Amino acid sequence: MQQLPDDFFTPEEARLLSTIRQAADALGIRARVVGGYVRDKLLGRPTKDADIVCEGDGILLAHEVAKAFQPRPNVAFFKAFGTAQIRLASGFEVEFVGARKESYRGESRKPDVEHGTFEEDEIRRDFTINALSVPLYGTDGWQVHDPFNGLEDLKQRIIRTPLDGDTTFSDDPLRAMRAARFASQLGFDIFPDTRAAMTRTASRLSIVSQERVTDELNKIILSPKPSVGFIHLFDTGLLQQFFPQLPTLAGVEMVEGKGHKDNFYHTLQVLDNVAARSQDLWLRWAAILHDIAKPATKKFEAGKGWTFHGHDAVGERMVPKIFKALKLPLNEHMKYVAKLVGLHLRPISLSKDAITDSAMRRLLVDAGDDLEDLMMLCESDITSKNEVKVRRYLQNFALVKERLEAVEATDAMRNWQPPVSGDDIMQLFGLPPGREVGLLKQAVRDAILDGVIPNTRDAALDFVKTQAIALKLR
Ligand code: CTP
Repeated sequence: MQQLPDDFFTPEEARLLSTIRQAADALGIRARVVGGYVRDKLLGRPTKDADIVCEGDGILLAHEVAKAFQPRPNVAFFKAFGTAQIRLASGFEVEFVGARKESYRGESRKPDVEHGTFEEDEIRRDFTINALSVPLYGTDGWQVHDPFNGLEDLKQRIIRTPLDGDTTFSDDPLRAMRAARFASQLGFDIFPDTRAAMTRTASRLSIVSQERVTDELNKIILSPKPSVGFIHLFDTGLLQQFFPQLPTLAGVEMVEGKGHKDNFYHTLQVLDNVAARSQDLWLRWAAILHDIAKPATKKFEAGKGWTFHGHDAVGERMVPKIFKALKLPLNEHMKYVAKLVGLHLRPISLSKDAITDSAMRRLLVDAGDDLEDLMMLCESDITSKNEVKVRRYLQNFALVKERLEAVEATDAMRNWQPPVSGDDIMQLFGLPPGREVGLLKQAVRDAILDGVIPNTRDAALDFVKTQAIALKLR
């Protein structure tokens, strides 16, 4: 046991823990606060929930605790799992569970919980740093109970299982993902034996639901330096289990002495670059997927070297399939990621040749409100080690941005829609929906974007009429 300073908990937290202590006393049982809450308090990280474990009935304890609050909070409980949850007015959540003999599986196949002692409970937890607890009984003041040297591991910044890794990971194979996640979130190392066990048990991840796996993956993606978690997943073979398209990017092929860059590590670098600038999960997903079609489009062309023609468009089409397989939402977030993948080469092409205003206008129209995100992705895509090159690329992008702003200022083309709609065209010529309407719409759009006609309704209507004659619709 290690004594904690009196002010270790805020006055509000101390009041809550004392209330739980009194409720447990009233029921004649013992309770401890355990797991992530204790770990994060010791690390000085913000917390928003706490787990209480008791030797007895967790649901009963939750009801006893709820009685002490005005207004009395609702107790959500799951009888089969012996767990209960209270959400306080402050938004803080407290979860109650009876100590158990079996492991903490999120989706145990056998809901019959076997009651156990604190000792039996803590040995079935995932990591030494998550088995730390603060007893809510016995002596005054606060003490940490540390059965597996978790305090030392916190100090040394190490993720380690309390039992041999094979046992801990077989109990719940998701824990291997959790190890990579904690390493990425906390900036910790994984103990070599623990990491070796992750590799040995990786194939068991297949029994875990995709939702739980993706939940952990998203936590890695949202961590400060996501490459840390991804490299653990890749090196242990976990990534290959559920997201095979990404590890396929790894490796360098050589032909005639010419290689290409390793697109897996390049992608992780782009992801870290984006993560340093944006907290947005979906922009980070766009970074992960921006080059996903490189293996599918890779060619060695004599005299030219390696090419990946069309990897932007092919990648855009791969996004829905990958989102579906990973059980990510098939909504506007998916469309946003697909759109950025499809557009990620456009700003680069604008920086190359003598570019017309019309090409600038097209990018403004196609990117719409996501233009800033797209530019951030493109800047993050520069991972060359050659500083001269990097500076040149960034200067080119700065010029592209300036020109985009200038075109936007004069034309206000962002989120632009042509002044003549498909409905207008159908009415004008008495056409049913179909190919001709699409052709005419595209022709008006091109004519305005190319500056052939002004961006007005009258000009667009006149233009449509002449095109219709050319197409023999009139
Ligand atoms: N736990 C476990 N095995 C799991 C999940 C959880 O042993 N597969 C135990 C750990 O002791 C963990 C506690 O249950 O600390 C609470 O789990 P959870 O709330 O999922 O994680 P936290 O550690 O609290 O971390 P975070 O809130 O960041 O997810």
